[in-house]
Amino acid sequence: MENFIETSVAALKQQIGDEKVVCGLSGGVDSAVTAALVSKAIGARLTCIFVDTGLMRKGEMESVQSVFTENFQTDLRIVDAEARFLDALAGITDPQQKRKIIGKLFIDIFSEEAAKVNGAKFLAQGTIYPDIVESGGTPDKPASTIKFHHNVGGLPDDLEFDLVEPLRLLYKEDVRQVGRDLGLPESLTGRHPFPGPGLAVRCLGEVTKEKLDKLREADAILTEEIRSAGLYDSISQAMAVCLPVQSVGVRDGERCYENAVAIRCIKTSDFMTAKSVRLPWEVLDKIAERILDEVPGFNRVVYDVSPKPPATIEWE
Ligand code: XMP
Repeated sequence: MENFIETSVAALKQQIGDEKVVCGLSGGVDSAVTAALVSKAIGARLTCIFVDTGLMRKGEMESVQSVFTENFQTDLRIVDAEARFLDALAGITDPQQKRKIIGKLFIDIFSEEAAKVNGAKFLAQGTIYPDIVESGGTPDKPASTIKFHHNVGGLPDDLEFDLVEPLRLLYKEDVRQVGRDLGLPESLTGRHPFPGPGLAVRCLGEVTKEKLDKLREADAILTEEIRSAGLYDSISQAMAVCLPVQSVGVRDGERCYENAVAIRCIKTSDFMTAKSVRLPWEVLDKIAERILDEVPGFNRVVYDVSPKPPATIEWE
């Protein structure tokens, strides 16, 4: 991949010339590697925009911030948009409507912020080869809206940027390797995929700040425990899901009526089919014990053993 980096940096320098580029960071691998590569080619003429939707995992914004200000010195702009997303999602329970609202708002906010980058000519996107294939495209045709479409609902017609897509011929594993070779931390290059609408599709029913905060804590515990058991890299995706179910429990001698949280760990090669991972019982025990001790509002933990199909990987 060293060769890829050299060739790609040279091509980017030629394509971009003296112009400015904007790039949206999502916290995921593809956008991070794209930004790192473009930054290697044009340095501070790259502006990265991270829209903090409030639907991210614990520590996600901080880890992006430290990598892109310390390692890469890009012009990083973080937009705190939590309140706007929560307002827009209030009272919404239908999963597809949630996706639509999040997608549209994300594009609006990203466009507002990108318009503030004076004179930017290019938009760098983390489109990778499977995104092109899934969208019925071909390698020699500009991917245009593919990545944004896949994640958040399509770029508006009046966002007039030329696209830069340096990863468009790579598979995910190659993208991870390019990231490692560029010096990105393993916590970023090796991370599990995370859906564009974020924790909103893991908060069943209405999305509220209270549910998101609980979910963030449970998700962080799950990640910590599978990492410390040495299982993170052998699992394709791990998640906690806040269920719209309350059940009776006993806490400190008092009857309580709290939410249930589902844990799901799957193994897959293509995300089209998946199997539930047989986590060792002691790891499951530890995860449940910690969530019940450390996250007020959850009094029951269940493990999802459903394969895909018929269950999807996400619950919504
Ligand atoms: P499902 O739930 O369809 O998930 O079995 C397959 C893979 O796609 C991810 N996923 C999404 N990714 N926006 C995304 O960017 C979405 O709306 C979305 N829905 C599901 C899911 O996390 C899994 O990796």
